[in-house]
Amino acid sequence: MLQRCNPLLLALLSLILCVPDTQQQQQLNLDALSTFSSASTLTLPSHNGDVAISVALCGNPDGSTPRVIFTNSSTRTPTDVNVGTQDVFEILIDEGVGSWVGSIGQGGRLAVTNTGQTKYEVGVSTNAGQPFHQYLGQDGSLFGDSTGNQAIFFSPPFESVGFTRPTYPNYTLPSVQMPFSVSQPSSTPQFALTLVETSSISGLLRRSSCALRATSSKGTVKNQMNWIRDAAEGWRSKWLVEGLTPGTNYSAFVFQDGTKVSGPLYFTTKSASFNCPLVDGLSYCPGVSWAVPLPAPPNPDTTYNASNLPTQITDSLQQYIANFTIALTTIACGRSIYSPIQTCADCQREYRRWVCAISLPRCGEPRGDETSLGRGPSLTTALASPTQQPRNQNFPRVKEGFVELLPCLETCQATDRACPNHVGFQCPLAKFNADKSYGVGFIDSRDGDKEGGLTGVSQDVYGNVWCNSG
Ligand SMILES: *[C@@H]1O[C@H](CO)[C@@H](O)[C@H](O)[C@H]1NC(C)=O
Ligand SMILES: *[C@@H]1O[C@H](CO)[C@@H](O)[C@H](O)[C@H]1NC(C)=O
Ligand SMILES: *[C@@H]1O[C@H](CO)[C@@H](O)[C@H](O)[C@H]1NC(C)=O
Ligand SMILES: *[C@@H]1O[C@H](CO)[C@@H](O)[C@H](O)[C@H]1NC(C)=O
Ligand SMILES: *[C@@H]1O[C@H](CO)[C@@H](O)[C@H](O)[C@H]1NC(C)=O
Repeated sequence: MLQRCNPLLLALLSLILCVPDTQQQQQLNLDALSTFSSASTLTLPSHNGDVAISVALCGNPDGSTPRVIFTNSSTRTPTDVNVGTQDVFEILIDEGVGSWVGSIGQGGRLAVTNTGQTKYEVGVSTNAGQPFHQYLGQDGSLFGDSTGNQAIFFSPPFESVGFTRPTYPNYTLPSVQMPFSVSQPSSTPQFALTLVETSSISGLLRRSSCALRATSSKGTVKNQMNWIRDAAEGWRSKWLVEGLTPGTNYSAFVFQDGTKVSGPLYFTTKSASFNCPLVDGLSYCPGVSWAVPLPAPPNPDTTYNASNLPTQITDSLQQYIANFTIALTTIACGRSIYSPIQTCADCQREYRRWVCAISLPRCGEPRGDETSLGRGPSLTTALASPTQQPRNQNFPRVKEGFVELLPCLETCQATDRACPNHVGFQCPLAKFNADKSYGVGFIDSRDGDKEGGLTGVSQDVYGNVWCNSG
């Protein structure tokens, strides 16, 4: 059976709204996505210029292995035996998706065979660089942090921020509240998120949006908004998910415009006794999205953001940024050059990241599996001993105590490197007692080799966070 899908509705609802098609002729339309539930031979109209044809399997209920064969010749037939001969191509399916880019000046025919009970989608895009179905990789999306039942995620960046570098004589640094807090991106792709328990991921076609959408997502999205964590990366979509199960391994997939997939991001929810709430959505600390040692937020809120974070914490934090910016601009920024590569704007950006990481301590929880990653027993996350009093004295004492995930020493060193001497910024030395207050040796080695530390990164796609990079 052929179904026609309306790509506009698809984009609007990120759902497939398909109407059964009563016509017998199985014709694929250009710039459209169609869903099928049986083996078919589909014809394509001719088109000047390259097209991208993509196929996604919507699951594999009976273990069949569909084959997809395409010809762009009007005289050839797309059969198994013709594969590899002139103008007959096999579209190989990997983790549920496959695509072909080329010209269809004579039209084309696509044969999908051996489908069993597998449903599938076929998309034909006249923008050859943008097939309907795409796998965007594992790195683009980001996991923020989790509690026992909540988690924060970010989509891959989708729009850059048009920050112009300030120049002398009008050297204006970003204000304490980052300017994007009052703007929005020019257009936002349709994003959606699916969470599955990692224990059930093995049979999933993890690059196929249509297969992933068919699984029921765990948890509920409490809030989704556009956010800039880092001006160099640009706009991302940000989710707060609630209703998860404590101590559970999850995998998160992000969909863009219904059919593009990134992920999986693996993460683990904290134990049920983890009692630090999440904080994010601070326009003066845009990179903050982690659990902090504070009591539960005021009802009915379930997380902290700029609207409910105690003012004794936010006032001084904003003053640090404001006062530092004043001290920084006592040199003629943009005219008196203190470094061939660093500018006052770099210094302010790095200081902001550092002061936010220091002022909003991040709660951690030992995972107990850190030596199971094959990197030897020396690899553990940078956790301070349990304490009741956060080092930021503006935080109240935590009755039950908490464990701090220490900031990465590299976050401090980046500020030290980016800033002129007169602001007097200094970091403790790795070889002395830096590891009392920082995670040392994870990103860079203790001797300072770039990314030569135990992990080379502060956080990986498996949900491990070694230190807080801010
Ligand atoms: C079929 O596509 C291939 C790859 O784009 C191209 O080289 C070939 O000329 C096409 N054949 C026809 C008949 O259009
Ligand atoms: C200085 O730059 C800021 C930010 O780019 C701009 O808003 C302001 O109008 C400029 N002032 C002058 C006098 O050009
Ligand atoms: C979660 O994943 C970790 C690391 O892969 C594993 O050691 C642990 O047993 C898993 N936990 C559960 C509850 O499955
Ligand atoms: C802050 O939280 C409130 C209440 O939950 C919510 O309405 C608002 O959109 C949030 N703002 C940001 C920037 O996250
Ligand atoms: C910022 O500077 C003002 C004025 O000098 C001072 O009163 C205030 O204590 C400073 N704030 C912080 C957090 O250092």
